[in-house]
Amino acid sequence: MNCITDSAFRVLKILERAPGSISGEIISKELNITRSAVWKNIQELRTMGYDIQSSQKDGYNLVHSSSRLFPHEVHKKLATRAIGRKMRYYGDTPSTNGVGKQLCSEGDPQNLHGTVIIAEEQTGGVGRMGRAWISPSGGIWITIILKPSVPVDHIFMITMAGSVAIARAIRKEFELGALIKWPNDIFIGKKKIGGLLLEMSAEADTVHYCLLGIGINVNNPVKDFAAELQRDITSISAEVGHDVDRASFLARILKEFENRYQLLESGEYETVTQEWKSLSATLDNRVLIRTMKTSFEGEAIDIDEFGALIVRKDNGKLERVIAGDCTQQ
Ligand code: BTN
Repeated sequence: MNCITDSAFRVLKILERAPGSISGEIISKELNITRSAVWKNIQELRTMGYDIQSSQKDGYNLVHSSSRLFPHEVHKKLATRAIGRKMRYYGDTPSTNGVGKQLCSEGDPQNLHGTVIIAEEQTGGVGRMGRAWISPSGGIWITIILKPSVPVDHIFMITMAGSVAIARAIRKEFELGALIKWPNDIFIGKKKIGGLLLEMSAEADTVHYCLLGIGINVNNPVKDFAAELQRDITSISAEVGHDVDRASFLARILKEFENRYQLLESGEYETVTQEWKSLSATLDNRVLIRTMKTSFEGEAIDIDEFGALIVRKDNGKLERVIAGDCTQQ
């Protein structure tokens, strides 16, 4: 998905470098194109949401960048080596995880490793347990394609690394006290702000690929969500009181994630679990666990290097939960 033509991108670079207004003539000379071609590129940038003023006397002036989450905007801030170096951008798509599956079925997951699929809006976003994930424009709805060498039994640690990355990015960018609720939720206070969905294609011990779906309410007024959700969710803009720069935030998340993903690849699970524990909203709380087979209550006391939650039941017995729903009481 190329969302900007090469020529409009070159014009954008010139506008960004210019200290103020710059004439169409100077741009046309620098790029060796006609003035009408410059004008067409300016129009293209405007339709992409770039606020460009023009006057006969002074020429063109970039007043505001686009607020859309274009790959070229994220790349300006991105400091990773692999994660996000390749991106796919959609104005809308049913689900970025769905796009990830499609890409992996058509191509070699090894070549797709690190690719980030971005959607402004999802029309059929999916949450855990097949629940619908409401994804209006303004949020961060992405999927990271991974070809991990992490052994299959440790694969859930990828969700843990993602959760730590998001919580830390929220803390660093916005100074909000984000915490992680096992297995895959990001909370601010008592309200959910984001979640992760890890899907995997594997056979015996071989992981073909993983799709780490990340959904975060960012520049989303809480009133844009269904009435029954509004009491229990929040967004970055609702917490800080204004819209924020999603491109910088996403670049930060991807960097934080890559750092932890590298630890997992070298078998250093302990560093990630320690960080997870320091950001946990679940440990030391009473929880109700529902798995496919059973449900029980107890106290969440630990997580292990596979990402499983350790719960002390009321009879003192320890239960290890690797998959299930966890309600905190
Ligand atoms: C959850 O808390 O239930 C997990 C939500 C995961 C949502 C993200 S948004 C991007 C990606 N695409 C999807 O359809 N789902 C994930």
